[in-house]
Amino acid sequence: MAGDLKISEMRDLTKIERVGAHSHIRGLGLDSALEPRAASEGMVGQTSARKAAGVIVKMIQEGKIAGRAVLIAGKPGTGKTAIAMGMAKSIGQETPFSMLAGSELFSLEMSKTEALMQAFRKAIGVRIKEETEVIEGEVVEIQIDRPAVAGAASKTGKLTVKTTEMETVYELGGKMIEALGKEKVQSGDVIAIDKASGKITKLGRSFSRSRDYDAMGPQTKFVQCPDGELQKRKEIVHCVTLHEIDVINSRTQGFLALFTGDTGEIRGEVREQIDTKVAEWREEGKAEIVPGVLFIDEVHMLDIECFSFLNRALENDMAPILVVATNRGITTIRGTNYKSPHGIPLDFLDRLLIISTQPYTEEDIRKILDIRCQEEEVEMSDDAKILLTKIGVETSLRYAIQLITSAALACQKRKGRIVEIEDISRVYELFYDVHRSTQYLMEYQSEFMFSEVPTGEGNQDDATPMVS
Ligand SMILES: Nc1ncnc2c1ncn2[C@@H]1O[C@H](COP(=O)(O)OP(=O)(O)OP(=O)(O)O)[C@@H](O)[C@H]1O
Ligand SMILES: [Mg+2]
Repeated sequence: MAGDLKISEMRDLTKIERVGAHSHIRGLGLDSALEPRAASEGMVGQTSARKAAGVIVKMIQEGKIAGRAVLIAGKPGTGKTAIAMGMAKSIGQETPFSMLAGSELFSLEMSKTEALMQAFRKAIGVRIKEETEVIEGEVVEIQIDRPAVAGAASKTGKLTVKTTEMETVYELGGKMIEALGKEKVQSGDVIAIDKASGKITKLGRSFSRSRDYDAMGPQTKFVQCPDGELQKRKEIVHCVTLHEIDVINSRTQGFLALFTGDTGEIRGEVREQIDTKVAEWREEGKAEIVPGVLFIDEVHMLDIECFSFLNRALENDMAPILVVATNRGITTIRGTNYKSPHGIPLDFLDRLLIISTQPYTEEDIRKILDIRCQEEEVEMSDDAKILLTKIGVETSLRYAIQLITSAALACQKRKGRIVEIEDISRVYELFYDVHRSTQYLMEYQSEFMFSEVPTGEGNQDDATPMVS
């Protein structure tokens, strides 16, 4: 493996975005002085938590600190996950952000610590500088020979390229001819050919051709014919995560495993080799570590072994910033009989900066519902919005958000265009919120299975979320 980590395969990897409960969140909505704007980038209210999150993002972007951990704590539906998503969006493309729900650890086909290790390494970026040789010049002529025998296996041809100072003819093989065709390269184009991979990039059309090609349309980019030598050394930078390097180097099908997620456990020796290699690159100035963010939602689902692992992992000098979130109050630490705040052991809590989220005001709820209506492209009358906001205050923000889609469907059904009060009340009757459902359960308890609800108040279940 020594010198040839398969990095170049990573160049074309793209990130996939999902649409869902938080798709309206486009950032933290802060101004340049990190002051939260009342409503911006899909974010409403929750100002002090957003500001705190902004400070963390700033720290991450400066890239100096490693191994800090932040806890976002608050009641259900107060925007903890939303704030984490906002951080992810505002952190910049090059900084890796990896996300994991505590419960996921227990359903993977690998040990919990291996899963955590992978999550950690997904959150550590490596910026690698590579020098490659490129041929850069203006195409003078492309000449493709007709095969002497019809259907002969491979085509051949010649490519003439020039700079302002020189002109050279290159022999073409079948692969290059195909690549030129794919990029639709013609004479007069300025191109760059990566010598190692044979990848062709069209840089634009030469200015000298600007007159003959008036008809090419405004999108044509004109560039100067390059000067100097045809062959140049160029520095290219790519960013990958340690996890990506691990996977690619640990299996023959490594690259594909990244897409299927079927990475399996990665052997310790592979990681060690990679860490050594990366350390060498850092010393030679070829690579830089970019500590990213690992977000673990529902952190109370972790058990004592996971927490110990996190304690240790945070002390590594390549550690990312860890952001965890929970809605639990004082509860049992999984895997023990001890209770602690948020179900998190005290030694780990001690390492955390805590951001707390507050319940929303009626005004905030109205604005969030407004944004969600826009996001889901639902038109709603003002009266209906007022009613929905009331429902949000009385029950929960989440329940009110859910009603938007269903009310829109009810509206469609009666061939309406704008969601009115009647649609809202119709779905309010169709779908119960927790309070009404509980009430129903209380009334008809005896008819359900396993009904063991004690009659008195103050049922302090371990798993009860924080409710004041
Ligand atoms: N400040 C906000 N601005 C805009 N949308 C918000 C805000 N806070 C919450 N939301 C939206 O409200 C819904 C519920 O919030 P979220 O899922 O973040 O709550 P949570 O605190 O993570 O709850 P839980 O403890 O149950 O996980 C989401 O759709 C979220 O995008
Ligand atoms: Mg959440």
